[in-house]
Amino acid sequence: MKVPIASPVMTEKMIEAAANALRNERLTLGESVFKFEEAFARMCGSKYAIAVNSGTAALQLALQAHGIKAGDRVVTPAMSFVATTNAFVPFGVAPGFADVLEKDYTLDPAKLKAAVDNKTKAVIPVHLYGHVAAMDEINDIAKKNNFVVVEDAAQAHGAVYKGRKAGNLAHAGCFSFYPTKNMHVGGDGGMITTNDDKVVDVCTRMRHCGRKKGSNYEHDIIGYTYRLNSANAAVGLEQLKMLPEWNEKRRAAAKQYDQMLKGVGDLVLPPGPTKDVSPVYHLYTLRTKRRYELKAFLEGKGVGVGLNYELPIHLQPIYKEMFGFKEGMLPITEKCCKEVIAIPMFADITQEQISYVVDCVKEFYSK
Ligand SMILES: Cc1ncc(COP(=O)(O)O)c(C=O)c1O
Repeated sequence: MKVPIASPVMTEKMIEAAANALRNERLTLGESVFKFEEAFARMCGSKYAIAVNSGTAALQLALQAHGIKAGDRVVTPAMSFVATTNAFVPFGVAPGFADVLEKDYTLDPAKLKAAVDNKTKAVIPVHLYGHVAAMDEINDIAKKNNFVVVEDAAQAHGAVYKGRKAGNLAHAGCFSFYPTKNMHVGGDGGMITTNDDKVVDVCTRMRHCGRKKGSNYEHDIIGYTYRLNSANAAVGLEQLKMLPEWNEKRRAAAKQYDQMLKGVGDLVLPPGPTKDVSPVYHLYTLRTKRRYELKAFLEGKGVGVGLNYELPIHLQPIYKEMFGFKEGMLPITEKCCKEVIAIPMFADITQEQISYVVDCVKEFYSK
């Protein structure tokens, strides 16, 4: 049996929706884009959503729309995909890192507090693997220090924190629709969510080359070509309809993995639901001191695995070179990044596939 690490869905209905958009709409910023924005905002419970062409673009525009500029510093966790900081380093903003909580791999509020300096103008908590960060504590620190909070919800479409959805818990939320995410758009795409009219105005102009509102050839801000294509938005609309069901299926699969893998070898299971957080398991990530051995064993059995993230951002070669970051800066992050290994997780994973993966893991530990 072969079990992939992820399995993006593309139904005939989604293909037909894309084809219809290609036949009948403007190819970019067509009707489907606006419908997708409305529906996505509704899902998050936020007033607005602005569609863009990647999650990285979403983070960049959300920060710039809040006035973050060259010379400022933005604090993030380093246990994340590199895009979290790639979103602002190219425009001259310095990354400041704070360590994560070992229990759920999200930003540790106490470490955030200690990492703030007078150049810090924003923080990006990352809802890693679909588990929402401690937003109340983070928002509190931000309020006291007068900085902006932009959620990196690229892995947390539909995740819940204290009854509210990820993306509607701070100044802005940013999502990715990269194909392996909990929902996608049949290619690259992203979304910014916000309740702030000014942020909507700036982001919609910035994604469209900085055009002045209502004008085609006048540009009053520096902008980018970050529009979402209409065919992608049409796929996104169909995917969004499936998101609640898909997230429930991921939760059910995670529950089964939890039950079947509890106490096996030296495995540390992922953070489960808490009284505050209902996660959406973008990834099901274990920890073990034997991850390279386990990886080789599982791959030999046809089971896909991921090392998300083998290198924390501060230890990526380009970040070490540019900023002089060194090992030892973020002990919890570094320890966890040495041990994490993701096993197959997707909405349509079958009972047989789950049992097969678990049997393979158990076989590894029985040797
Ligand atoms: C945590 C996180 N942040 C940001 C991004 C960037 O999204 P994109 O790849 O759509 O630019 C991703 C996904 O790739 C991600 O996982």
